[in-house]
Amino acid sequence: MHYHRRQGWELPENTATPEHLVMSRRSLLGGAAALGGGLLLGASSRPALAATQAETDAFHPYVRNPAYTLDRALTEEKVTSVYNNFYEYGTSKSISAAAQQLNVRPWVLKVDGMVEKPREIGIDDLMAAMPREERLYRFRCVEAWSMTIPWSGFPMKALVDYLKPLSSAKYVRMETFYDPKMAPGQRAPFYPWPYVEGVTIEEAANDLAFIVTGAYGKPLAKQFGAPLRLALPWKYGFKSIKSISKITFTDKRPVGLWEALQSSEYGFWANVNPEVSHPRWSQATENVLGTNTRVPTQLFNGYAEHVAGLYKGLEKERLWA
Ligand code: MTE
Repeated sequence: MHYHRRQGWELPENTATPEHLVMSRRSLLGGAAALGGGLLLGASSRPALAATQAETDAFHPYVRNPAYTLDRALTEEKVTSVYNNFYEYGTSKSISAAAQQLNVRPWVLKVDGMVEKPREIGIDDLMAAMPREERLYRFRCVEAWSMTIPWSGFPMKALVDYLKPLSSAKYVRMETFYDPKMAPGQRAPFYPWPYVEGVTIEEAANDLAFIVTGAYGKPLAKQFGAPLRLALPWKYGFKSIKSISKITFTDKRPVGLWEALQSSEYGFWANVNPEVSHPRWSQATENVLGTNTRVPTQLFNGYAEHVAGLYKGLEKERLWA
């Protein structure tokens, strides 16, 4: 086999490439996105120009979208990165070390159901094909704690448009990976693995629905649900499914893991409402992580002006838990 030994004076390509050319390679990937990703993914769904993890990592930090502002300080990464719910890695909040077992490459998103073309997309091709931005979002867990996080990623609407569901599809069902060898929590038979969540197509198209691929200006840490998770800031945190590996467009309302386990406490809509208590505790206030203070919880977690319209005519539904 021919082997070219690099001489000391030969620089690796990336260190030799002037920055403006590196940038134009990045914009080339972004530009393909603007064309609907056809260049990247090709008709056979085998990418003609495959993006690599090194390339998509290098997209960070994403440019912040100033439309999403906060009424409180960001929660420090040293707080949020060691206080997580990720039952695939254990039932305590201290799963950050165990979550490092999660293998995030290769990572393939499977898309099926009521869609023009079922397919499998590599995570880096998907990230290169999507628009990119950072948003500051509040996050409210059903357990009455909250945090504020700089997520990076892309609007869920961009993903749905890109995947082209059929008009008969009413819901987006999302599934986390299932691999008990990689996720010790999935060996616990008590839970109906894999983790599942879902939203209506209208909710998915709302401006606030955001697919997360990074946080704090970096690629997403494993304990946050790398490499692909959801952020729905007006809903309780359990709707924000982590480490998504499958999306199914369907006309049947998806049943999430928590609803399957305990439907008297957790339902499909799960919108934040301080006036509707959880059967076992009040939702009126929340503990803001890292501050030692409780603050009043807001309707739709403070995002009512963006999302209240989604629920007009659905007042008979159990919208709040
Ligand atoms: N997704 C998966 N796959 N597994 C989980 O256990 N927990 C949910 C949600 N998504 C969970 C998940 C819950 S209950 C919450 S509050 C948030 O993730 C926690 O997100 P965080 O750890 O980034 O704060």
